[in-house]
Amino acid sequence: MYETILVEHRGPVALVTLNRPKALNALSDQLVTDLGHAIDAAEADDNIGAIVITGSEKAFAAGADIKEVARFTYMDVYQSNFITAKWERVARCRKPVVAAVAGYALGGGCELAMMCDFILAADNVKFGQPEITIGTIPGAGGTQRLTRFVGKSKAMEMVLTGRNMDAAEAERTGLVSRIVPMAELVDEAVRVAERIANLSRPIAMMAKESVNKAYETTLAEGVAFERRLMHATFAVEDRKEGMTAFTEKRQPVWKHC
Ligand code: CAA
Repeated sequence: MYETILVEHRGPVALVTLNRPKALNALSDQLVTDLGHAIDAAEADDNIGAIVITGSEKAFAAGADIKEVARFTYMDVYQSNFITAKWERVARCRKPVVAAVAGYALGGGCELAMMCDFILAADNVKFGQPEITIGTIPGAGGTQRLTRFVGKSKAMEMVLTGRNMDAAEAERTGLVSRIVPMAELVDEAVRVAERIANLSRPIAMMAKESVNKAYETTLAEGVAFERRLMHATFAVEDRKEGMTAFTEKRQPVWKHC
C-alpha cells in the first residue's frame, strides 16, 4: 500500500515502520508523503488509539534525503515550503504518537522523533543535527525543539558542531523518556502505546493538548488552559465512569466519549 513505510495494526496501535533500508531511512519526499497518509489513516480509524513510529536497528532515519535535496534551488525550497510544511503532519496528530528510535536519528530523523509525543530509544541510539557539516541548518524544527528539550547550551553545541548524542546523554538530558534494550524496543513501545490507547481516548487527547500547550505559552496562560480542559473532562462520559469505577472498586469500562 505504501512505497517507503510499513503499517501494521497491533490491537489498538498503528505501528509505522520507516522502510528505506538501503538509504538508512532517509526522509525522501515520498517517505514523508507516505508517513503523512499513514497518520491521516490512523487518525481517521476509530479502532486506533495510538501510533508508534519506528525505523530499523541501524537507523531510525539518517535525515532528509541529501541526494534528493542536493539539486534544489532556493525557489524550489521556498515555493514548496520545504521542509516543515509536510513533515509537521506528525506534530499535528491529535492521537498520541510514540517514537521508538534505534541507531541513527540524524538531522530530519532527530527532528521527526522530536515531533512525536515522547521518545523511547534503544541503547545504540545516536541523535544529532549534522546539517552544518553539509552546509545548511536544521529545517524541521531542530533548532527549536532540541533547545526546548535539552537547553540552549547543549542544543547550540550540537547544532554548531554536528556531534551526536548517545543513549546515556539523551536520557540524562531528557531528550528521551527512557532507554530500552535494542531487542525489546518495538515491543515495549507498542506496549506503552497500547496502554495509552486502552485508556479513554478523548481524555488522552486532552492530556496531550494540555502538555503541548506548555511549549507555546506562558506558565499562567498554560495553567489556565489546563484548568479549562480539566473542567471539560467533566463533560466526558469516561470521566464519570473513571471516578465511579474507582469508588465501586472495579476496572473502568471506557466508552471513548
Ligand atoms: N540522504 C540520502 N542518503 C543517505 C543519507 C541521507 N541523509 N544517509 C545515508 N544515506 C545513504 C548513503 O548515501 C548510502 O547509500 P549508498 O550505499 O548508495 O552510497 C547508504 O545510505 C548507507 O550509508 P553509509 O554508507 O554512509 O553508512 P555508514 O554506516 O557508513 O554511515 C551515517 C552512516 C553516519 C548515518 C552516514 O550515512 C551519514 O552521515 N548520513 C548523513 C547524515 C546527515 O547529514 N543527515 C542530515 C541530512 S540534512 C537534513 O536532515 C535537514 C535538511 O536538509 C535541512
